Amino acid sequence: MNNRTTRKTVAAVLLSQCALTSQQVVAADYLLSTPKTSLVITAETGKRPLLQYYGARIDGAELQGLLSSGFGVAAESYPAFGLNSITERAVAVRQSNGDLSLDLAIETVEQKQHHDGEVLEIRMKDKMYPVCVSQFFKAYAGTDIISTWVVITNADKKKAVTLTRFDSAFLTFHRGENWLTHFHGNWGAETTMDEERLTNGQKVIDNRDGLVNTETDNPSVMLTLNGRPEENHGNVFGGALAWTSNYVFKADCRNDRLILMAGINPAHSEYTLDAGTSFETPEFCMTFSTTGKGGVSRAFHRWARRYKLHDGNRLHDILLNSWEGVYFKVNQEGMDAMMQAFGELGGELFVMDDGWFGNKYPRNNGSTSLGDWEVCQEKLPGGIQGLIDSAKKNGIKFGIWIEPEMANTKSELFERHPEWVLQVKDRELSTGRGGTQIVLDLTNPAVQDHVFNVVDRLMTENPEIYYMKWDDNSPLRDYGSLYLPKDRQSHLYIDYQRGLYSVLQRIRAKYPKLIIQACAGGGGRINYGLLPYFDEFWTSDDTDALQRIYLQWGVSHFYPAVGMASHVSANRNHQTGRVTPLKFRFDVAMSGRLGMEIQPKDMNDTDREFARRAIAAYKEIRPTVQLGDLYRLVSPYEHKGLASVMYVRSDEFQQWNGTPRTDVSAPAAVLFVWKIQHFINELLPVVQLQGLDPAKNYRLRDLTPTEADKPCPLNGQVLSGRFLMESGLDLRPTLKSEYSSVCLALEEE
Ligand code: DGJ
Repeated sequence: MNNRTTRKTVAAVLLSQCALTSQQVVAADYLLSTPKTSLVITAETGKRPLLQYYGARIDGAELQGLLSSGFGVAAESYPAFGLNSITERAVAVRQSNGDLSLDLAIETVEQKQHHDGEVLEIRMKDKMYPVCVSQFFKAYAGTDIISTWVVITNADKKKAVTLTRFDSAFLTFHRGENWLTHFHGNWGAETTMDEERLTNGQKVIDNRDGLVNTETDNPSVMLTLNGRPEENHGNVFGGALAWTSNYVFKADCRNDRLILMAGINPAHSEYTLDAGTSFETPEFCMTFSTTGKGGVSRAFHRWARRYKLHDGNRLHDILLNSWEGVYFKVNQEGMDAMMQAFGELGGELFVMDDGWFGNKYPRNNGSTSLGDWEVCQEKLPGGIQGLIDSAKKNGIKFGIWIEPEMANTKSELFERHPEWVLQVKDRELSTGRGGTQIVLDLTNPAVQDHVFNVVDRLMTENPEIYYMKWDDNSPLRDYGSLYLPKDRQSHLYIDYQRGLYSVLQRIRAKYPKLIIQACAGGGGRINYGLLPYFDEFWTSDDTDALQRIYLQWGVSHFYPAVGMASHVSANRNHQTGRVTPLKFRFDVAMSGRLGMEIQPKDMNDTDREFARRAIAAYKEIRPTVQLGDLYRLVSPYEHKGLASVMYVRSDEFQQWNGTPRTDVSAPAAVLFVWKIQHFINELLPVVQLQGLDPAKNYRLRDLTPTEADKPCPLNGQVLSGRFLMESGLDLRPTLKSEYSSVCLALEEE
């Protein structure tokens, strides 16, 4: 009790001075808060830091009550392996003399205000060896996200130390009825939501692909603390690792504790720290919501738009991508025709996908040419400038597809530089797509230059390229680098990503305005390690509107609509073979960043006319959808016959950085409802809206009627926010058939 009183005094001082000073600690409780969340760490010089609390916001006065009532978990915030280690630890090293232990003790603590947030840094040092660990917690200004990471330094003057484990986060909670929500999948079925109750033992989610780290499971989880996960109620923790390679998350349930560990996957990744060098782990970014999973998502979306998506507050163009329209059959005439048709529909940007490059080996399928990034003269005699001219003539912008981290064994690049490819010396190469795809060695600075030059040359020669789609269709297959020294081969997974980050930093420094999409055989790279360099991501190669409802539902838990590329494709769908009405396909795609992935010349006049009206409608609702707050209303996973989401125009959009935004207007809210199954005498739920002002009236407007003069029965009705949220809408008269749908604007009266 005395100790706690001591801490109370020091904590009070720190709370009042933290913005200004750095402190030599004696014993103190540090409170780091965002508007809706708080984190409490107890730190005492010479001891180990303790995480006491991460949850709903508390103030300085409540902090004392939290600790004295025993609510604090008092668990080590970054436990090291070696001494008294009988459970999981966050960090492990091999000292130069073979000693496997690390005994960290606090030296100093500093809590400081930075331009983009408040940072708490706890500096620790081993009691015997010159190994230091700084643990950071950062509260991002104006958001409800706190991130955490560590920097491990080998301060020895001569000897190296080897890291064998290096988590970013090690968070302990009181155990209750804990449910884990995560997003597993496969090609064409990424971010499929899975919710399971945690029981005694460990649940591990990991990735070992090396490159495509979000196809099989996204590095993001939600955890409920007391009961089943709900959209709009309950305490939910959400966290995502900002890393784009192998990762591991462990949820460890033991006795009365739940520990969540997250970090780079240490499997086959022992990392040697030479004397005087440091290792920084990626950020683990987290929030805590008292309003269910929806609260977690909205906090992540706002934060992502502001801090973690390149130019995240910009409105995105409506684009046509050539892939499903022509696949590899690219030529000037075909591209011109697509651009002209898309311009006539009101489209804004055309993206020429795979198939445009290679002369010695023209790219006609997936088995040749990656690495040979010159325009195929035979297919495109006018070059890229010819395409840009054609785009301009049609009043749209031009973008292009690349896969710059790759080569094919049948390519001029591989003929010139076989040593640039990841390989195990003297062993046969493993190949991927087309039987010939191989991965370049991005640990090698010469290869980094090559990848940078792919973008730089295209941009220097064609400065009007507006957009690039950066693809990656291969995992890291062969675990070997001819560049890395023999005793550093285990750095490969990590150094590859660092090489990639370094290339992306150079590209962003030179081309800050270029719009770049992250793609990896679909949604294989949707993570906050990569997204700071990218404007958007390709959600999945599966463009089937029905399956997209599920995929986009999953993605929306952590990633905002402004980045979620969502395209209308052909009937029947090329991946699932499903036939759905064009209106349904548009109504699904319009709930993300709208695009098309279709051959316009195959559309009939009625469909073209509908597409033209739907594109015009999307332009009206774009600010609300892309920059608004998402409310997930009816889950497709609950099999209630329909699924629904809505977006509410955000104050952030209206008052970005304190400046009123007058460039575009947008409806107060947009509602999407999709009928996903159809039976006679089916009980359909009433859809209760969220996020509206109960005191305001809203006029409903059907944005995508199949026939312009025949809107749905809800069109023109004026209802109060209170009614819409408490009573809801009966959609039965509107959704009468399978794959019927509605997209409604709500305008304030
Ligand atoms: C995989 C992507 O996900 C597709 O959209 C397309 O760009 C192909 N690669 C091209 O090879």
